[in-house]
Amino acid sequence: MATDCILLAIESSCDDTSAAVLKNGEVLSNKIANQQVHEAFGGVVPELASRAHQQHILPVVDQALKQAGIRMDELNAVAYTQGPGLMGSLLVGSSFAKGLSLSLGIPSIGVHHMDAHVMAHFIDNPKPQFPFLCLVVSGGHTQLVLMRDENSMEIIGKTRDDAAGEAFDKTAKLLGLPYPGGPLIDKLAQEGDPLKYRFNTSKMEGYDYSFSGLKTGILYFLQDAVKANPDFLKEEMPHVCASVQHTIVNYVLANLLRAAEDLGIQDIGIAGGVSANSGLRKAIEAEAGKRGWRAYIPDFSYCTDNAAMIGITGYYKFLNQDFSSIDAKPFAR
Ligand code: KG4
Ligand code: ZN
Repeated sequence: MATDCILLAIESSCDDTSAAVLKNGEVLSNKIANQQVHEAFGGVVPELASRAHQQHILPVVDQALKQAGIRMDELNAVAYTQGPGLMGSLLVGSSFAKGLSLSLGIPSIGVHHMDAHVMAHFIDNPKPQFPFLCLVVSGGHTQLVLMRDENSMEIIGKTRDDAAGEAFDKTAKLLGLPYPGGPLIDKLAQEGDPLKYRFNTSKMEGYDYSFSGLKTGILYFLQDAVKANPDFLKEEMPHVCASVQHTIVNYVLANLLRAAEDLGIQDIGIAGGVSANSGLRKAIEAEAGKRGWRAYIPDFSYCTDNAAMIGITGYYKFLNQDFSSIDAKPFAR
């Protein structure tokens, strides 16, 4: 009988320190320490992030092992986020993983953070059938990824400038909301009319995206509205949030649906932090339902950055004996 794969996974690409333990691809624990230090700055401050990772990594790994009921010496491999991300943050997680790999004499597995967002779909059941087309929408990326099998990922569309998460966060900043603004816009949008205000989006070549025009459009719209009525934001906040959310959701979904139609794909999904958005979750379900397709949405805990998704990606690499050299360098992009 093949031996078990008990794997520790570490994610530290941005501002969350996370550790997970998986046994043969099943998640036994998935712990996350968020960093509050950035809130006051309206965005992630790289130096503060790496310092906080150093403080959090040992306790978080400890909690993940304890919850899983696994001892260090039972581990068969350690997976970590190799990139993309903030260099100082990646160095904390990757150095920790490599140190563990050397001291325990087990392989280390460097994982691509964006691949891991897509692979989050392979944690729970039912798992997508191939070909599978996944829209990855996070704070740093917006891309359409085509998977023909579990070892191939092809990017068929991407943003030329900002990411969808940045569009949410930058709008939130204009509205005077704290960072990260995406979840707050989602919450406020529940009470608003999504069709009250209209914003233009840019039609790009192929399946690409661009958010810079939308961002400028929202900025000018708000400047004019506040000039005309200083209480505009106080009175209209839920409607503005609902309208912006509606615009972003429709925009990101349009290319996914068009590409799936063009390629004859019936298994579609969303991944990344913005896939936690309630409007996007409802819209993809509805659109897939209309066409008789299957829509896959990861559990909330696997949408934003987490180590379980690094673990499941690491597990498939483990099965292929796709290990990393101890000199594997973290990469920022
Ligand atoms: O994947 P993620 O955790 O980190 C990156 O790899 O970037 O994504 C973070 C992004 C942030 O921009 C955050 O505002 C956004 O995901 N986000 C949301 C929601 N929850 C998180 N955006 C809209 N609605 C949400 N509910
Ligand atoms: Zn991410």
